[in-house]
Parts: sequence; C-alpha cells; structure tokens
Amino acid sequence: MSIAMSQKRLEDKVAIVTGGASGIGASAVHIFHENGAKVVIADIQDRLGQAIADKLGENVCFIHCDVSNEDDISNLVDTTVSIYGKLDIMYNNAGIMDRPVGGIVDAKKSDLERMFGVNLVGAFLGAKHAARVMIPHHKGCILFTASACTSIAGLSSHSYAATKYAILGLAKNLTAELGKYGIRVNCISPYAVVTSVPGITEEQRSKVEQKLSNMGNLKGEILKPECVAMAALYLASDEAYYVSGLNLLVDGGFSVVNPTMIKFANLV
Ligand SMILES: NC(=O)c1ccc[n+]([C@@H]2O[C@H](COP(=O)([O-])OP(=O)(O)OC[C@H]3O[C@@H](n4cnc5c(N)ncnc54)[C@H](O)[C@@H]3O)[C@@H](O)[C@H]2O)c1
Repeated sequence: MSIAMSQKRLEDKVAIVTGGASGIGASAVHIFHENGAKVVIADIQDRLGQAIADKLGENVCFIHCDVSNEDDISNLVDTTVSIYGKLDIMYNNAGIMDRPVGGIVDAKKSDLERMFGVNLVGAFLGAKHAARVMIPHHKGCILFTASACTSIAGLSSHSYAATKYAILGLAKNLTAELGKYGIRVNCISPYAVVTSVPGITEEQRSKVEQKLSNMGNLKGEILKPECVAMAALYLASDEAYYVSGLNLLVDGGFSVVNPTMIKFANLV
C-alpha cells in the first residue's frame, strides 16, 4: 500500500471525539480539525462543546451524548453518518476520575460502579456502535484513552485502574475480532496531564505541572493535552495503517523506568 503523505493527515476523514468539550478530547478536536477531518464533538457539557464547534466553524459540530447511555451513543453515530456520510475514526476518550489514590478498605462500591458506568461502558458502547457502521465498509479506526496506570501500578485509585485495564482488555479483544474487517483498534495511555480542574488558577496549574514534571522521567518537560492528542492523531492517520492492538504509552518512559538504581548510582 502506498501511503499518501499529506500535510493534512486526516483529509477527508470523519471523526467522533467523545469527551471532546474539554482537556485531551478538546485538544484532539482542534488537532483533528486542523488536519482536515470533519469532527463531531460528543459530550455532556453542552455549552463548552457547542462553543468549540462555533469557534471552529465549518466541518465541526457538537452532539449531546452521555456515553453511558446506549441510545445517546447510537444516535451520535447515526447522526454523524447522516451529516457527513460515514465514520472513519471513533475516539472513545470520555472518562471520569475519582480520588487520586485511595486505599481498598476505604473504596466505595458506588464509586467503582460510577467509574465503570462511564469509563468502561462508554468505551464499550462507543466501540459497538462505531463497529456497526464501520464493518460494512471494511475499514475504520477505533481509539481509546486508557492511562499509564495500565503499565505501572500505584498511579491512581483501584477503581480507576480497574476501568482502564478493562478498556485495554476490550481494545485487545476488539483487535482480534475487527481485524478481518480492516478495522484498527488502539489505546493511548497518558501519564498525568493537568486538564479540567474547576477553579484552578494559572499559577496553581503551573505549579502542579511542575511537580508532575519533576516526578516524571523526561526531566524539564511537561505533558500537555495536545501531546496526547498528537499521539491520537498518529494512530488515527494513515501513517499508522498497519498499527492495531497497540497500547501507546505517552508517559515519557515513566512506566518502564525504575528510578531506584538511578538514585542509588547518584549517591555513590
Ligand atoms: N488528565 C490525566 O492526567 C489523564 C491521564 C490518563 C488518562 N486520562 C484519561 O483521558 C480522558 C480525558 O480526560 P481529561 O483529563 O481530558 O479530563 P477532562 O475532564 O478535561 O475531559 C473529560 C471530558 O469527558 C466528558 N465526560 C465525562 N463524562 C461523560 C459522559 N458520561 N458522557 C460524555 N462525556 C463525558 C467531560 O464532560 C469532559 O469534557 C479520560 O478518559 C481520562 O481518564 C487522563
């Protein structure tokens, strides 16, 4: 296959980004649009989602969608196809977090159910309805935002980690089923990124980013939402045409480095 390299890497493609009103999803919406895609923003934050669609104008629209509701997801996919004629990229990115790290003894079943209800159920339904319209065309790309907690332990609460491992398992199983239809399935797994924190000032944001950077492996570098969105752009583009079943870590190497020996070596 010859890959037509274009400056606009998603020219003529139609993408849905769930959780597209904020954070990583909003960055993906901007970057996909800049790269020539027609983009549907799917979110429960109507005001924010509509504002992005209004700002970007042509070839971007907002559709209200609660990813935990199958009717909403089904309507999202069908409306996208009726507006733009097809669906090439389904980026299942919407997700919620709970407390940063919590002990199992204090964990609440209600939190676990809430997290699974959005993170896994949303990803599952998004993949199901995307596959429904992609399979007849024998092509498509399904993406998920998982997390670096699928590669290293101790980064998040147990509930959150369980939802993200479940998404990775779902993605791998879908890779097995959907390969015969030419549909690629991949995960993007970021290290911590400061995204929507209600009421945070620029100064506070920058302090948290600095702390995360110091904890990270790529010293002096800060992971921004657009860095994650660029990884999604790669996986969504034809440059990744034979890439499927990948969990692409966007963590600067954090999850493969054990800093203990490095610290020890610096001591002696
Ligand atoms: N920020 C991080 O450090 C980080 C790290 C690893 C993975 N992630 C994952 O990245 C994804 C995006 O998170 P973010 O950091 O950009 O957060 P964010 O809060 O800025 O964005 C999440 C978006 O999802 C939307 N959303 C939440 N529940 C929804 C629902 N039921 N239906 C539709 N939309 C819904 C929110 O309204 C919001 O716009 C999530 O899946 C998150 O778990 C984030």
